[in-house]
Amino acid sequence: MEFYEVLENRHSSRSFLDKEIEPQKLGKVLKAAMSAPSAGNLQSYGIYVVNSKDAKTELVGACSYQDFLSQAPTVLVFCADVKRSSTKYEDRGELYAEQDASIVASYCQLAASAEGLSSVWVGAFDPLEVSRIISADPYLVPVAIIPIGYSGESPQKSTRRPLAEILREV
Ligand SMILES: Cc1cc2nc3c(=O)[nH]c(=O)nc-3n(C[C@H](O)[C@H](O)[C@H](O)COP(=O)(O)O)c2cc1C
Repeated sequence: MEFYEVLENRHSSRSFLDKEIEPQKLGKVLKAAMSAPSAGNLQSYGIYVVNSKDAKTELVGACSYQDFLSQAPTVLVFCADVKRSSTKYEDRGELYAEQDASIVASYCQLAASAEGLSSVWVGAFDPLEVSRIISADPYLVPVAIIPIGYSGESPQKSTRRPLAEILREV
């Protein structure tokens, strides 16, 4: 799929079919992470691939009871590695690690779309609970959770503020 088509076609999906993701497709989604820029190229993030039914069910509770998380065949949890970033960037390390993890999450979300998969960015969660459920390394802080799978709905195109309202010329 052409790049701008991917951007245009990605819409959040909050319903997923009971259908596994082909390993080759999931591999491409995860490999997209390797193309992302990161502060000082430190790649200050970790990605947890959650396939366990029990873990996904527990994640629902940690994410304000967003049920669709347990429907998705795979849930990716993107974490900031603040320790890694702070060794070089000190006070800026936390921000950079969060940005690194967010960029990687975006790349993977777009790659999923390019592979004909659907997803939604989940930001409403209790980070300590999520860390416990996925047994995250103590220095990895969950930043974004992205369930991925085949959509069980026709995702709606959402509106955007006009560009003119957002842009400031200096
Ligand atoms: C930082 C962030 C947090 C979000 N948190 C949630 C969430 O917890 N639950 C949810 O259903 N959608 C969440 N979303 C998805 C947005 O609602 C969605 O991207 C937005 O409405 C635009 O729709 P679109 O993705 O279809 O373009 C989040 C998106 C971002 C970027």
